[in-house]
Amino acid sequence: MRAVAVFPAERELRLVDHPAPAIERDSEVHIRILDVGVCGTDREIARFDYGTPPAGSPYLVMGHESLGQVMEVGAAVKSVRPGDLVVTMVRRPCDRPDCPACRIGRQDFCVTGRFTERGINGRHGFMTEEVVDDERYLVAVPRALADVGVLVEPLTIAEKAFIQVGDVQDRLPWLGEDRGQEAAHRAVVLGAGPVGMLGAMALRVRGSEVWVYSRDPSGGDKARWVEAIGGRYLSSTEASLADLAAQVGNIDLVYEATGASQLSFQALAVLGVNGVFVFTGVPGRKAPIEVDADLLMRNLVLRNQLVYGTVNAGPDAFLAAIDDLAELDRRWPAQLRALITGRYPPESFEELLVGPATGIKRVIHFAEAR
Ligand code: BGC
Ligand code: ZN
Repeated sequence: MRAVAVFPAERELRLVDHPAPAIERDSEVHIRILDVGVCGTDREIARFDYGTPPAGSPYLVMGHESLGQVMEVGAAVKSVRPGDLVVTMVRRPCDRPDCPACRIGRQDFCVTGRFTERGINGRHGFMTEEVVDDERYLVAVPRALADVGVLVEPLTIAEKAFIQVGDVQDRLPWLGEDRGQEAAHRAVVLGAGPVGMLGAMALRVRGSEVWVYSRDPSGGDKARWVEAIGGRYLSSTEASLADLAAQVGNIDLVYEATGASQLSFQALAVLGVNGVFVFTGVPGRKAPIEVDADLLMRNLVLRNQLVYGTVNAGPDAFLAAIDDLAELDRRWPAQLRALITGRYPPESFEELLVGPATGIKRVIHFAEAR
């Protein structure tokens, strides 16, 4: 089988002939890969900054944002059938009996750091023709979402973030049942890449007023896209964060999707009363930046603010992502599809992984759904 693989020791990226997998346990499912999204993490792995092959393998098959189709199921599999479309979760539990998170299937909160991630860390990923995985790591995607199902995994980042917004804003006793929706009346999304744009859509579905703040110019494609989903767009090259704050009023939520530490900490300084700031970006290690720590600390205390980071996603976020994707498809089918800016054959892996980062979400297309 063809597979896109990184050889970290040799610092090489190659299309390899990878052995086809087969079902070995009753609970396993054999999947034909249709689409695999490329993200910043993949590009870092392709630069050898990140990424670990499975023990004993010289290479790691890349890819963690997948959509596949079930070919065959083990005897005990109940939740999916041949022909179903599925997304496979990324992280697998650690081996420690005393990890409370992994032992209940919440490896996205693993406490030992010994978890593995398909296509990233210790396990082969999805940039190949077929994979096998346990039923418990699969979520079924409706057939009508076949052309956008590959967006489920990046959407789970926002879903997990917003589930936690609801949890932490349980502290605000006047909010109603649906705190996740009410807690972020006025939300700012930092960054207009796929994670930011999917987050902006998910916030609009929750009824938030959304401002997207990013580098792209106002009046450009990104700005028009944001306006089409009922959001507002401000360009960081034209408007300062003070301008943004003046427009928004009390900023209830900042959803960071840039990986840019300087901009993020400056934005933290304009977070509102009882506000929540969620980091999703992973910055590279650069020189230390200066922040006004007294101002930030004063605000954190005097405005009851909460700051947290979020990584990976649990089964609840995957299910929420599939529900939300159906809703996004109902409300903004064109804007949803505009996020996928190209489908490429596996042979184009170099262009996608080490070439210039153009477009929004670029996808490696392995096969058509049957
Ligand atoms: C993936 C997550 C993963 C994280 C860190 C992200 O790109 O979406 O599933 O946990 O990278 O490896
Ligand atoms: Zn990713």
